Amino acid sequence: MKRFDIVVGDITRSDAEAIVNAANTTLLGGSGVDGAIHRAAGPLLLEECRTLGGCETGKAKLTKGYDLPAKYVIHTPGPIWQGGGEGEPALLASCYRSCLSLAAANGIASVDFSSISTGVYGYPLPQAATVALRAIMSWLSEHELPRQVRMVCHSEATAAVYRQAWNLWYAEEKDDRL
Ligand code: APR
Repeated sequence: MKRFDIVVGDITRSDAEAIVNAANTTLLGGSGVDGAIHRAAGPLLLEECRTLGGCETGKAKLTKGYDLPAKYVIHTPGPIWQGGGEGEPALLASCYRSCLSLAAANGIASVDFSSISTGVYGYPLPQAATVALRAIMSWLSEHELPRQVRMVCHSEATAAVYRQAWNLWYAEEKDDRL
């Protein structure tokens, strides 16, 4: 089984133990994948989110999955792209690390990510994919859990950018070994 993979699909149909929601700091839902997850999970998700008191950008909070096939939802507000000079890369990397750390702390074995900040929040996809892959692969190289992580892309076009970022990461990784 691959520890990391890039797939095309609708994350609300994911059978991973936890799916990651590209949320906002209120955690009270929105459009995009946030809206899709809340619609599929049902009203009890929002009810639980209301008890969480929001979430800081770059951090993550866990809820149940309710009517979703996934047992849990990990909510993480990504950074809003402001040109790249406002700490966006570090905040985006922190989203991925916070989600993986929360999953590991809860003994979660499989996590499906949505592509954080690359929709409404305007983070350019190639840069976001590079940050995401570096953060995910460095976590997986140092931790047993989660055992499986996937990036669930909503389109083939998005997946192609993540695969390109993967190839660049892998080439860099191999260079380091030579
Ligand atoms: N499954 C998988 N990926 C999806 C789905 C889905 N059903 N729907 C959308 N996406 C993808 C988008 O194509 C994009 O690549 O999720 C990625 C993140 O886009 P957004 O959902 O717009 O999230 P983001 O850019 O992080 O903006 C967050 O938007 O929805 C609001 O409440 C949310 O305010 C927050 C902001």
